[in-house]
Amino acid sequence: MSRAPLPYSSRILELFKNPKNAGKMADATVSAEAGSPVCGDIIAIYLKIENDAVISRASFESYGCAANIATASMLTEMVKGKRIEEAWKIGWKEVAEEVGGLPAVKFHCGVLAVGALRRAVREYFRLRSPKPAWLPEQDTFEEKQALDEENLAKELSRRLNASKDRSDSK
Ligand code: FES
Repeated sequence: MSRAPLPYSSRILELFKNPKNAGKMADATVSAEAGSPVCGDIIAIYLKIENDAVISRASFESYGCAANIATASMLTEMVKGKRIEEAWKIGWKEVAEEVGGLPAVKFHCGVLAVGALRRAVREYFRLRSPKPAWLPEQDTFEEKQALDEENLAKELSRRLNASKDRSDSK
């Protein structure tokens, strides 16, 4: 059975083929992951923060699809040179717009990228006190979605292992 190609924008295809800021950052100030290694959709974001205020560099590693690579590439471009607070405010819809839109089944790929960025920002402030007033205590939509996906992948893996154990014991 052949599958119809997804309606990716030309920008997504271009960024997928030539992503910007791809790769681990050896001297990152902070990094974070989102997604699940169980299903393969996982992304890591690395940030270099200068003067306790500005993201001077950002990079990513992605084991996700073309949409994930493209949105992560775009997001790392968007946050470069921004104050941490400004970068925090970038939502997945904004990133999706910048890549020319995402097919509905690929919304989560952009959400994961932003989820990873926000986790990196939280990690940066984890041991700092006081926390900035703009940093919400509750997880944002993108962080919750990333967590839901991780929990779902764990549950699927648990069920697969359980059914494998049952068939092995027959
Ligand atoms: Fe999961 Fe794109 S990252 S399908």
